[in-house]
Amino acid sequence: MKVTKYAFQQHGDERGQLVALEEYNDIPFEIKRLYYMYGTLDGVRRGFHAHKSLEQILICIHGSCKVLLDNGYEKKTVFLETPYEGLYIPKNMWREMFDFSPDAVLLVLASDYYKEEDYIRSYDEFLAFYNNQAESGK
Ligand code: TYD
Repeated sequence: MKVTKYAFQQHGDERGQLVALEEYNDIPFEIKRLYYMYGTLDGVRRGFHAHKSLEQILICIHGSCKVLLDNGYEKKTVFLETPYEGLYIPKNMWREMFDFSPDAVLLVLASDYYKEEDYIRSYDEFLAFYNNQAESGK
């Protein structure tokens, strides 16, 4: 499985660092929504879903966390620990986020508004959907 991580340009100077993200220039989709998770309790694992069409970039802008990616065939765990690195998650990818440090702030840039109908929340349904997509060549 190919994992795509973006190393964002840091505009650092004697005052500190700054990262600027523009849709299409730095992020490969139109950014229609962003949300962030913080105050995640010790031992919590969240996510447990895939999306039928949503694309996302995850940036741990403070602290650290891990993301399990599962395309229905292969799994990979990615460690996020810098505010200038973004993990791209394409559609049809099961994800779980875990091992949040107490200070972790996980920012998510998303290609669409929140639409419950785009979620696949059952792993079995995800595998069926994945196989169906693979067979039809999508
Ligand atoms: P949830 O889907 O459980 O988060 P995750 O799957 O990433 O662990 O979302 C938690 C709550 O927040 C749930 O009630 C839905 C709501 N929510 C929104 O209203 N808008 C959003 O963009 C997101 C991501 C969640």
